[in-house]
Amino acid sequence: MKIAIVGSGYVGLVTGVCLADFGHEVVCIDKDDAKIAALREGIIPIYEPGLDALVKSNISAGRLRFSTDLPASVAPADVVFIAVGTPSRRGDGHADLSFVYAVAREVAGAVTGFTVVATKSTVPVGTGDEVAHIIASINPDADVAVVSNPEFLREGAAIEDFKRPDRIVIGLEDDRAREVMTEVYRPLYLNQAPLQFTARRTAELIKYAANAFLAMKITFINEIADLCEVAGADVQEVARGIGLDNRIGSKFLHAGPGYGGSCFPKDTQALVKIGQDFGSPMRLVETTVSINDHRKRAMSRKVIAACGGDVRGKTIGVLGLTFKPNTDDMREAPSIDLIRGLQDRGASVVAFDPQGMDTARSLIEGVRFADNAYETARGADAIVLVTEWNEFRSLDLDRIKSAMIAPVFVDLRNVYPPQEMARHGFTYVGIGRGIEPVADDAAH
Ligand code: UDX
Repeated sequence: MKIAIVGSGYVGLVTGVCLADFGHEVVCIDKDDAKIAALREGIIPIYEPGLDALVKSNISAGRLRFSTDLPASVAPADVVFIAVGTPSRRGDGHADLSFVYAVAREVAGAVTGFTVVATKSTVPVGTGDEVAHIIASINPDADVAVVSNPEFLREGAAIEDFKRPDRIVIGLEDDRAREVMTEVYRPLYLNQAPLQFTARRTAELIKYAANAFLAMKITFINEIADLCEVAGADVQEVARGIGLDNRIGSKFLHAGPGYGGSCFPKDTQALVKIGQDFGSPMRLVETTVSINDHRKRAMSRKVIAACGGDVRGKTIGVLGLTFKPNTDDMREAPSIDLIRGLQDRGASVVAFDPQGMDTARSLIEGVRFADNAYETARGADAIVLVTEWNEFRSLDLDRIKSAMIAPVFVDLRNVYPPQEMARHGFTYVGIGRGIEPVADDAAH
């Protein structure tokens, strides 16, 4: 198959590279000259494990190209994927579809022969209809089938998710498009990944429903964690106890500082707006959005409480800034609200992140950035573990403690067992761990 991907950002790039790796002939298109020039050299603008090597090997195999020329790239394509951003529209939380529609207009004039136009971008219900309408109005002779093919990639595990998906959702109204999309995903289909063919509007809604459900699941366990703290229970055990019920499942039950990232915050808000537009309110999702916003702000109060109620003049070391490990993405990261909250109450913040510091520098002012975890701990009155990078899972705790002024450790990801931290002499605060560990002074 000849495939053109419009938009060489996160989704476009991962999709293009993986489809090339399946043996298709792929061209990734972007307006950004510098980005395309860099990609041609195999330089990747984002951090995603494994992407680098896959781009290089597919370029040298001649299956993957990069271009800024949309018309020339789209003309011979059997399938054109639209993979441009749909950010939250400033002010109202609706998904901003201007990039998607702009691509639809350009594609309309460029297609030749029967072409499938598949939307990968997360778009509200009815966007496929509008894309089809735009193409038909600009080029009435275009033989085009518009398909919805949402992605379910997790940052940091995107290649694995693409190659071993739980399912592939394809919304369409055209039998020829069904044949083409079956061919596109044949290698996965042969690996038994279920292809769910459904109507276009249904596919569009599946993406939002999936992300909102996962965001709700996280928010639910976060609220249970709060309850555990006051009721004297352990959320880790509660999560295990409910997760072993197959109807619930154990994934996405990890209590933490609130969800962030490029998808959950944006997509939950957009689903709320879609519900309002259709007069069918999404009350659970609305509440999820508000609980999560509130929670991210509440994390600084948790740290302040762990420091005895006051952080004025104190130094707080923050381990991890990105919204989750294995990414350099800082979008909606809980660390941002946390650090601002601490600074507002007079604390100095020192921070370290294995990949996110470049972006963090431009997002958060007044932070001193350290070179590693131990330097972050030097002279700190408390350490807060915000993102569970692997390198923070096996810290030399004695070394951390001896570098600190006061051994307060706030673990917003429950990485460390409370008993172990107590043994090392830390005052330890986790999430939803209402069973107090035996503290250092109580042990002696
Ligand atoms: C998500 C979806 O998983 C993916 O299918 C979709 O296509 C895009 O959005 P992503 O944003 O990359 O992927 O990250 P994910 O691993 O889902 O984590 C999202 C947020 O939830 C992170 O802030 C993470 O820390 C948080 N989270 C996740 C929890 O707090 N607890 C959990 O149990 C799981």
